[in-house]
Amino acid sequence: MQSCTLEAAPAATFESANKLRGLFPAIVAEPETVFFDNASTAQKPAVVIDRINRFYSRECSNISRASYGRSTALAARVEETRLKVAEFLNADPEEIAFTGGATESLNTVALSWAMHNLNDQDEIMLCMEDHHSAVFPWLNLQEVLSRFGKKIKIIPFSLHHTGVYDWADIESKISSSTRLIALGHVHHLYGMEMDIAEIKALLPDNVLISLDASQSAGHIKLDTRALGADFVSFSGHKMFAASGTGVLYTKKSVLQQLWPSKSGSKTAFQIDKENMTLSAERLSGIIECGTLNIAGILSLKTAIEFIDSIGIETIERHLSDLTHYLHGRLKELAAIEFAPGIGRCGCTKGFGIIAFKLKKFDSPDLADYLDSEGILVRAGDHCRGSKEEDDSYIRVSLQIYNTREEIDFFMEVLEDACR
Ligand SMILES: Cc1ncc(COP(=O)(O)O)c(C=O)c1O
Repeated sequence: MQSCTLEAAPAATFESANKLRGLFPAIVAEPETVFFDNASTAQKPAVVIDRINRFYSRECSNISRASYGRSTALAARVEETRLKVAEFLNADPEEIAFTGGATESLNTVALSWAMHNLNDQDEIMLCMEDHHSAVFPWLNLQEVLSRFGKKIKIIPFSLHHTGVYDWADIESKISSSTRLIALGHVHHLYGMEMDIAEIKALLPDNVLISLDASQSAGHIKLDTRALGADFVSFSGHKMFAASGTGVLYTKKSVLQQLWPSKSGSKTAFQIDKENMTLSAERLSGIIECGTLNIAGILSLKTAIEFIDSIGIETIERHLSDLTHYLHGRLKELAAIEFAPGIGRCGCTKGFGIIAFKLKKFDSPDLADYLDSEGILVRAGDHCRGSKEEDDSYIRVSLQIYNTREEIDFFMEVLEDACR
């Protein structure tokens, strides 16, 4: 089993969450509302909203089609965003494609890489407790391929009750037919970080890694080279950019193995009388086609600049501090039952996510009650592939603008409900 991190907890040094709240118009408009559903999507700072507004009010045109200045200037700004994302991930711009979100990125790995490279009986390893968006693309591919007479195998591996992948299970299931392992970086419900470099060390060199970084991007430092993943997927809207934005990183050495899963204007096809070939040196020529979400892409650059202006280490420290504070307060409740994660292990790191239920309470009912008190949390199955029997947890997920005062108010409301 992979152990959880046991480094010393970082000191609670972030004191400006209250000041930061002023940068988010939705928070300023409703300061009493406690938004604790940030793993689903984050609130947007004014700079991001202004960037989207500027595109529609002053710069609106298409890109890569016309030669007039407004369009070429805009195309250059989109490429500046690609550079920014590459820098953010410690990757090269040729390895970056814009997508509509993590779900689209994860599907693209299945349809653009696996569809064209898997042979009969090849195996894909994944964890059924990961997000549907990381699991379903593989079940879907298996089904599609079976209709064309090709059988691939999905090999599920398990998650330990503490909320991290079970290494021994992974190791025992790797075979000579394993072609790819799908991993999550920070779990969307259990909030635990998986040690990707250590899992990579278990794998033969020919097994690719597809990493879902939806809950880690913008929350902790992401370094694709250090992680060693071949594909990294995440969405922009969970890290302050607009909805409908996402990124797919693909390691340069794998680019030649891809084939477009959708195609149209901008796909790097070369067509002569007899055949059609793909001549793409860049991921964008394989993955991006049609009119992109230009406003969303521009907002992603602003969102990364916003994160940089706060500092990723500061964000990481604040989320860890709040997670531990929340955990400490929740432990006071006699009726608490923690889901896997920080509540079940002595982990000293925290990534802003804790899930729990209260004995005798139905979690969806409790979420409705919290909503009536102005506290927005998520309850339900949380898009997981497989579940424990009674697994409807309340998930609290935090962001930089959340405060200890909000946690104290949340606890007051919970304590009242328990009385
Ligand atoms: C771990 C994980 N993967 C994938 C997704 C899907 O992201 P999107 O809806 O932006 O495509 C989510 C969304 O909650 C997630 O938490």
